[in-house]
Amino acid sequence: MATQIQNKQVHLEDSELTNLETDLALELLRVVEAAAIASARQMGTGDRKKADQVATETMRHIMDTVPMRGTIVIGEGERDEAPMLYIGEKVGRKAPGGLEYPEVDIAVDPLEGTNLCATGAPGSICVLAASERGGLLHAPDCYMEKIVVGPACKGVVDLDAPTAVNLKMIAKALSRDVEDLVIIVLDRPRHETLINEIRKAGARIKLIGDGDLAPGIAAAVMGTGVHAVMGAGGAPEGVITAAAMRCLNGYMVARLTGYTDEQRERMTQYGISDVNKIYTAEELAPGENIIFAATGVTDGALMEGVRFFGEGARTSSLVMKMASRKVRFIEGIHIEQEKDFSIRF
Ligand code: FBP
Repeated sequence: MATQIQNKQVHLEDSELTNLETDLALELLRVVEAAAIASARQMGTGDRKKADQVATETMRHIMDTVPMRGTIVIGEGERDEAPMLYIGEKVGRKAPGGLEYPEVDIAVDPLEGTNLCATGAPGSICVLAASERGGLLHAPDCYMEKIVVGPACKGVVDLDAPTAVNLKMIAKALSRDVEDLVIIVLDRPRHETLINEIRKAGARIKLIGDGDLAPGIAAAVMGTGVHAVMGAGGAPEGVITAAAMRCLNGYMVARLTGYTDEQRERMTQYGISDVNKIYTAEELAPGENIIFAATGVTDGALMEGVRFFGEGARTSSLVMKMASRKVRFIEGIHIEQEKDFSIRF
């Protein structure tokens, strides 16, 4: 009996250890949490570059503690442009002799909404998506025009349809009037026509200064008061949004736009032959084992910003695993002080 119990314990401990080591989602949570805590210290400094740099360095550092053979497929730029988290960079902890950790492709946006963090405005997050090899489109740092909506609006929007028609379809799918919709649009001159069309159709608009990735996630979560994101944002942000849509059963149509000749060339190297192709989330993030992790830096619709309280920091994160349909909203308390501390609710 004693031996049996002992054996069982040994077995349990072994499998627990294995699970702990292979629960990549929770390992990647540590990466975005740490980056958010570091960049949140830069909130309101007015220095967006520094805020981004701090997030990037922290993310890079913590990534090397994660048991994986990671490759950055969307990052801070090409190898000659970015000192770390560049496209093609290998990240992850080395496995002990004879063992090999899983191969993982990773798309990172160490600080999404650098201006938002630098000015203390809402909506900046530290975010990444991961998948098995080949599970995330390698997109250059050009623009991507897109429509992002929730599960109820699957298949009802078309990038080439008139805006008024898309809004009507979204409203119908959500059993409400067009006037009840809230559409998020980046406040940019390139969106002047789109904004006028939405206004003419009667929907409400929330113009945002930066950071269209988090609103995309909000559009796929009921009760956030966001019904769609429309317009062109960064293509890397678009691919990470697609990864989130795969985890949330959301819907997205997108097309690469605003690319330079050099970026056009790069697309060929990345295997993109038709530059006018309209992608769905399944094509932008085709992986079967998508993981998404984000932590709020400043307050947002889904995640609160980092709060510091003397002994440490409190974080608010979203971690999702597509294959096991896990969507976790995680509050983290990180004690930085070694000795005496108290936790606040
Ligand atoms: P940064 O975090 O790199 O500053 O990007 C923020 C962002 O607003 C994204 O959310 C958005 O997709 C993109 O920039 C839009 O680019 P642009 O500012 O050139 O319109």
